[in-house]
Amino acid sequence: MHTALVNPKGNWWLPAHKGEKVWVIIAFAWCMVLFAMMPLWHFKGGQNPAGVRHRVVPATYMNRVQEFTNQYRVGEEYGLPVVAPPPGADVYLIGMQWQWFPSLKLQKGVQYTLHLSSLDVDHGFNLYPLNINFMVLPGYDYALRVTPNQSGDYRIVCNEFCGIGHHTMVGRILVTDEPNAAPAAAPPGGTQ
Ligand code: CUA
Repeated sequence: MHTALVNPKGNWWLPAHKGEKVWVIIAFAWCMVLFAMMPLWHFKGGQNPAGVRHRVVPATYMNRVQEFTNQYRVGEEYGLPVVAPPPGADVYLIGMQWQWFPSLKLQKGVQYTLHLSSLDVDHGFNLYPLNINFMVLPGYDYALRVTPNQSGDYRIVCNEFCGIGHHTMVGRILVTDEPNAAPAAAPPGGTQ
Protein backbone atom coordinates (compact mmCIF):
# COMPACT_ATOMS: atom_id res chain seq x y z
CA MET A 1 0.00 0.00 0.00
CA HIS A 2 1.25 3.46 -0.79
CA THR A 3 0.64 6.50 1.38
CA ALA A 4 1.87 10.04 1.03
CA LEU A 5 3.88 9.57 4.23
CA VAL A 6 6.22 7.03 2.64
CA ASN A 7 8.69 7.90 -0.10
CA PRO A 8 7.94 6.22 -3.42
CA LYS A 9 10.39 3.48 -4.33
CA GLY A 10 13.11 3.87 -6.88
CA ASN A 11 14.64 6.91 -8.51
CA TRP A 12 11.47 8.93 -9.01
CA TRP A 13 13.27 12.24 -8.95
CA LEU A 14 14.93 13.16 -12.21
CA PRO A 15 16.15 16.59 -13.28
CA ALA A 16 13.58 18.43 -15.42
CA HIS A 17 13.80 17.74 -19.12
CA LYS A 18 15.01 20.62 -21.29
CA GLY A 19 11.61 20.84 -22.97
CA GLU A 20 9.94 21.18 -19.59
CA LYS A 21 12.24 24.05 -18.64
CA VAL A 22 11.43 25.82 -21.91
CA TRP A 23 7.71 25.49 -21.19
CA VAL A 24 8.15 26.89 -17.69
CA ILE A 25 10.02 29.89 -19.14
CA ILE A 26 7.35 30.45 -21.82
CA ALA A 27 4.55 30.16 -19.25
CA PHE A 28 6.29 32.58 -16.90
CA ALA A 29 6.89 35.09 -19.71
CA TRP A 30 3.22 34.86 -20.69
CA CYS A 31 2.19 35.42 -17.07
CA MET A 32 4.24 38.61 -17.11
CA VAL A 33 2.59 39.73 -20.36
CA LEU A 34 -0.89 39.18 -18.91
CA PHE A 35 0.14 40.91 -15.69
CA ALA A 36 1.30 43.95 -17.67
CA MET A 37 -1.94 43.92 -19.68
CA MET A 38 -4.04 44.62 -16.61
CA PRO A 39 -2.87 48.22 -16.14
CA LEU A 40 -2.23 48.73 -19.88
CA TRP A 41 -5.75 47.65 -20.83
CA HIS A 42 -7.18 50.04 -18.34
CA PHE A 43 -5.75 52.92 -20.37
CA LYS A 44 -5.69 51.46 -23.88
CA GLY A 45 -8.54 48.99 -23.97
CA GLY A 46 -11.37 51.39 -24.68
CA GLN A 47 -13.43 49.49 -22.15
CA ASN A 48 -13.88 52.15 -19.50
CA PRO A 49 -17.32 53.68 -19.27
CA ALA A 50 -17.50 57.01 -21.07
CA GLY A 51 -19.50 58.65 -18.38
CA VAL A 52 -19.48 60.42 -15.09
CA ARG A 53 -20.30 59.22 -11.65
CA HIS A 54 -21.96 61.15 -8.90
CA ARG A 55 -23.03 60.30 -5.42
CA VAL A 56 -26.77 60.34 -4.98
CA VAL A 57 -29.18 59.45 -2.21
CA PRO A 58 -31.16 56.43 -3.47
CA ALA A 59 -34.53 57.98 -2.58
CA THR A 60 -33.59 61.17 -4.44
CA TYR A 61 -32.63 59.13 -7.47
CA MET A 62 -35.93 57.25 -7.26
CA ASN A 63 -37.78 60.57 -7.36
CA ARG A 64 -35.81 61.56 -10.45
CA VAL A 65 -36.74 58.26 -12.12
CA GLN A 66 -40.38 58.84 -11.27
CA GLU A 67 -40.25 62.36 -12.65
CA PHE A 68 -38.62 61.13 -15.86
CA THR A 69 -41.21 58.37 -16.15
CA ASN A 70 -44.16 60.73 -15.74
CA GLN A 71 -42.70 63.13 -18.27
CA TYR A 72 -42.15 60.72 -21.17
CA ARG A 73 -44.50 57.85 -20.45
CA VAL A 74 -46.10 56.40 -23.59
CA GLY A 75 -47.73 53.24 -22.34
CA GLU A 76 -47.59 50.30 -20.03
CA GLU A 77 -46.70 46.62 -20.27
CA TYR A 78 -46.49 43.91 -17.65
CA GLY A 79 -47.43 46.49 -15.06
CA LEU A 80 -44.42 48.65 -15.90
CA PRO A 81 -44.57 52.05 -17.55
CA VAL A 82 -43.00 52.29 -21.00
CA VAL A 83 -41.02 55.47 -21.39
CA ALA A 84 -39.92 57.01 -24.68
CA PRO A 85 -37.57 59.93 -24.05
CA PRO A 86 -36.76 62.39 -26.85
CA PRO A 87 -33.32 62.38 -28.55
CA GLY A 88 -30.53 63.67 -26.35
CA ALA A 89 -32.54 63.24 -23.17
CA ASP A 90 -31.26 62.16 -19.81
CA VAL A 91 -32.66 58.69 -19.28
CA TYR A 92 -33.12 57.44 -15.73
CA LEU A 93 -33.18 53.74 -15.02
CA ILE A 94 -33.21 52.18 -11.59
CA GLY A 95 -32.57 48.66 -10.41
CA MET A 96 -34.33 47.40 -7.32
CA GLN A 97 -35.26 44.10 -5.75
CA TRP A 98 -36.36 42.71 -8.18
CA GLN A 99 -37.01 44.76 -11.23
CA TRP A 100 -35.59 47.33 -13.61
CA PHE A 101 -37.75 50.41 -13.73
CA PRO A 102 -39.11 51.63 -16.12
CA SER A 103 -39.20 49.93 -19.55
CA LEU A 104 -37.43 52.09 -22.12
CA LYS A 105 -38.16 52.79 -25.73
CA LEU A 106 -35.17 54.37 -27.44
CA GLN A 107 -34.44 55.44 -30.95
CA LYS A 108 -31.65 53.98 -33.04
CA GLY A 109 -28.71 56.25 -33.90
CA VAL A 110 -29.56 58.84 -31.28
CA GLN A 111 -27.45 59.71 -28.29
CA TYR A 112 -28.82 59.55 -24.77
CA THR A 113 -27.33 59.93 -21.36
CA LEU A 114 -28.28 56.79 -19.54
CA HIS A 115 -28.30 57.14 -15.78
CA LEU A 116 -28.04 53.94 -13.77
CA SER A 117 -28.44 53.48 -10.06
CA SER A 118 -29.94 51.17 -7.50
CA LEU A 119 -32.53 51.69 -4.83
CA ASP A 120 -31.31 48.99 -2.47
CA VAL A 121 -28.43 46.58 -3.10
CA ASP A 122 -25.84 45.98 -5.84
CA HIS A 123 -27.31 44.87 -9.14
CA GLY A 124 -25.69 43.98 -12.45
CA PHE A 125 -26.82 45.61 -15.67
CA ASN A 126 -26.36 43.08 -18.45
CA LEU A 127 -27.88 43.97 -21.78
CA TYR A 128 -28.92 40.73 -23.43
CA PRO A 129 -28.03 39.57 -26.07
CA LEU A 130 -25.19 42.10 -26.24
CA ASN A 131 -22.07 41.79 -24.17
CA ILE A 132 -22.60 44.95 -22.14
CA ASN A 133 -22.13 44.71 -18.41
CA PHE A 134 -22.22 47.33 -15.73
CA MET A 135 -22.36 47.27 -11.97
CA VAL A 136 -25.25 49.24 -10.56
CA LEU A 137 -24.66 50.44 -7.04
CA PRO A 138 -26.92 52.23 -4.59
CA GLY A 139 -25.65 55.71 -3.78
CA TYR A 140 -24.03 56.27 -7.17
CA ASP A 141 -25.52 57.71 -10.31
CA TYR A 142 -23.58 56.52 -13.34
CA ALA A 143 -24.31 58.66 -16.36
CA LEU A 144 -23.27 56.81 -19.51
CA ARG A 145 -23.42 58.36 -22.95
CA VAL A 146 -24.98 55.75 -25.17
CA THR A 147 -26.05 55.63 -28.82
CA PRO A 148 -28.03 52.51 -29.68
CA ASN A 149 -26.70 51.39 -33.08
CA GLN A 150 -29.00 48.43 -33.62
CA SER A 151 -32.73 48.25 -33.36
CA GLY A 152 -34.13 45.38 -31.37
CA ASP A 153 -35.89 44.19 -28.30
CA TYR A 154 -33.30 43.95 -25.55
CA ARG A 155 -33.48 42.50 -22.08
CA ILE A 156 -31.71 43.83 -19.05
CA VAL A 157 -30.68 40.78 -17.08
CA CYS A 158 -29.43 41.27 -13.54
CA ASN A 159 -26.09 39.51 -13.29
CA GLU A 160 -25.24 40.29 -9.70
CA PHE A 161 -26.86 38.07 -7.10
CA CYS A 162 -29.26 40.36 -5.26
CA GLY A 163 -31.49 38.08 -3.23
CA ILE A 164 -34.20 35.49 -3.56
CA GLY A 165 -35.81 37.08 -6.64
CA HIS A 166 -32.55 37.74 -8.49
CA HIS A 167 -33.37 35.37 -11.33
CA THR A 168 -36.64 37.17 -12.05
CA MET A 169 -35.02 40.58 -12.37
CA VAL A 170 -35.39 41.23 -16.07
CA GLY A 171 -36.05 44.59 -17.70
CA ARG A 172 -36.66 45.73 -21.23
CA ILE A 173 -35.16 48.24 -23.65
CA LEU A 174 -36.80 48.51 -27.03
CA VAL A 175 -34.72 50.21 -29.74
CA THR A 176 -36.76 51.34 -32.73
CA ASP A 177 -35.91 52.69 -36.15
CA GLU A 178 -38.74 55.21 -36.18
CA PRO A 179 -38.52 58.44 -34.24
CA ASN A 180 -40.17 58.31 -30.86
CA ALA A 181 -43.56 59.90 -30.84
CA ALA A 182 -43.67 63.11 -28.88
CA PRO A 183 -45.03 62.47 -25.42
CA ALA A 184 -48.66 63.37 -24.93
CA ALA A 185 -49.10 66.84 -23.53
CA ALA A 186 -49.89 66.87 -19.85
CA PRO A 187 -53.52 67.71 -19.13
CA PRO A 188 -53.83 71.34 -18.04
CA GLY A 189 -53.01 71.70 -14.39
CA GLY A 190 -52.93 67.97 -13.84
CA THR A 191 -50.44 65.18 -13.59
CA GLN A 192 -50.33 62.08 -15.72
CU1 CUA B 1 -30.71 42.40 -9.17
CU2 CUA B 1 -29.74 40.31 -9.22
